Amino acid sequence: MKGVVFTEFLEMVELKFGLEVVDTIIENSNLPSEGIYTSVGTYSFNEMVSLITSLSDEVKAPMGDLIYAFGLYLFNGLGSAHPEVIENYTNPISLLYAIEDHIHVHVKKLYPEAELPTFKILDKTENSITMVYCSSRGLYRLAHGLIEKTFEHFNGTATITYELLKEDGTEVKFDIIQNG
Ligand code: HEM
Repeated sequence: MKGVVFTEFLEMVELKFGLEVVDTIIENSNLPSEGIYTSVGTYSFNEMVSLITSLSDEVKAPMGDLIYAFGLYLFNGLGSAHPEVIENYTNPISLLYAIEDHIHVHVKKLYPEAELPTFKILDKTENSITMVYCSSRGLYRLAHGLIEKTFEHFNGTATITYELLKEDGTEVKFDIIQNG
């Protein structure tokens, strides 16, 4: 997993819970990197799992809720680190439609070692999209947060529901309907 995801994660923890919690979860996690990340570095996904588990223990919140909150936070982080990746889109549905074939393709050029999920589009209309998230990392709540923020980015909202196609969350279908 790319360092930019770790640096954004620790930044969110500091903002929401304070620097002490950052120090505590780094201490309590199993981190070969010792919790020192650079945005272009690549680190084991296990380190992220360990950090999220420690945070969940520390602040007594479910992991899924914390991953979702991180998705909300990460959209702005990635968007401001790479504005050129999203500036061509004029509405949220077309942005979501383009993740697989354009946005993450571009990301792969910026970060060749990135391990990205795949999104399969099942249906798309002017104000709705149905897509299947697929990734061995099972970060579907991260996708949930990112999708939610995509609408906010265009000053809109959406009704987002999801269904686990595999129990471990490695394949999840999202039904997304733009409000208003
Ligand atoms: C601003 C545009 C975006 C950029 C620059 C971007 C970039 C990235 C990067 C760098 C990673 C980390 C890969 C790694 O650590 O190896 C990632 C992962 C991910 N991206 Fe994007 N992304 C963008 C938009 C989105 C959107 C809108 C979604 C909405 C569904 C999304 C879904 C995900 C998910 C769920 C992951 C986690 C990896 C996984 O689940 O396997 N991304 N993205």
